[in-house]
Amino acid sequence: MDWGMANRMAQLIQRDGRCLFLPVDHGYFQGPTHRLENPRHTLEPLMPYTDAIFITRGVLRSCVDPDRAKPIILRVSGGVSMVGKDLAYEGITTSIEEAIRLNVAALGLSIFVGTDYEHDSLLNLSHLVNEGEKYGIPVMAVTAVGRELEKRDVRYLSLCCRIAAELGARVVKTYWCPGFEKVVEGCPVPVVMAGGPQVDTELEVFQFVHDGLQKGAIGVNLGRNIWQNDFPVAMIQAIRAIVHESASPEEAQQLYDTVKSQALVRPG
Ligand code: 5RP
Repeated sequence: MDWGMANRMAQLIQRDGRCLFLPVDHGYFQGPTHRLENPRHTLEPLMPYTDAIFITRGVLRSCVDPDRAKPIILRVSGGVSMVGKDLAYEGITTSIEEAIRLNVAALGLSIFVGTDYEHDSLLNLSHLVNEGEKYGIPVMAVTAVGRELEKRDVRYLSLCCRIAAELGARVVKTYWCPGFEKVVEGCPVPVVMAGGPQVDTELEVFQFVHDGLQKGAIGVNLGRNIWQNDFPVAMIQAIRAIVHESASPEEAQQLYDTVKSQALVRPG
């Protein structure tokens, strides 16, 4: 691996082989998502606990100070919205020159396997990998499901992750699912887990994160289940303990409760 690529991968994956990415890219198709209405406000208290942030160029420039940033995974796919016809109809929104100018650690793009736009999104990935590899910038592929959350099963996610790796993604972001070890086994590059919409209890999040790591994921790219929580700083600290300190779900819950009890009640 060339020095630049190796250096960028090391910015993402920490010395313990694990990572905690914080995605705040949701606005690129959801608009002002609940509790991400003001990205600077959401991000600032969480920044110390993340290894990298997943973000679009617009929010990066307007809401993150360059002298206080963490490594950047730049979201470069888009062109759709929640009110449009099809969330799968994404293109590449951001040039490689812009990514270099922003000094990013990685590029991130969604693929939509099994949709009408499967071919387009897979060629988008291939094109992005070609560009990224030229300049030593890794690509993280996101196995997106759009509105069809029920797609998140082991057969479908294994298929998506393997295809993403075959096309050259250096990291694949997918969802946790029962039988997750099969997803990881079939994917020859590191896998990180997204959270999806907020689940009912914190413990459920701690359990699936812990389980996924036991089954071979190297970390998380977890957004709404952190920053939509009433106590996001407590949440991210608890998840960090699972990812980087091998905490159990119960230990994470204790940490969450402790940090929560010290925090002021979140306004709004
Ligand atoms: C949204 C994304 C997010 O990065 C991804 O879904 C992770 O966030 P969450 O944990 O909220 O699902 O790709 O465009």
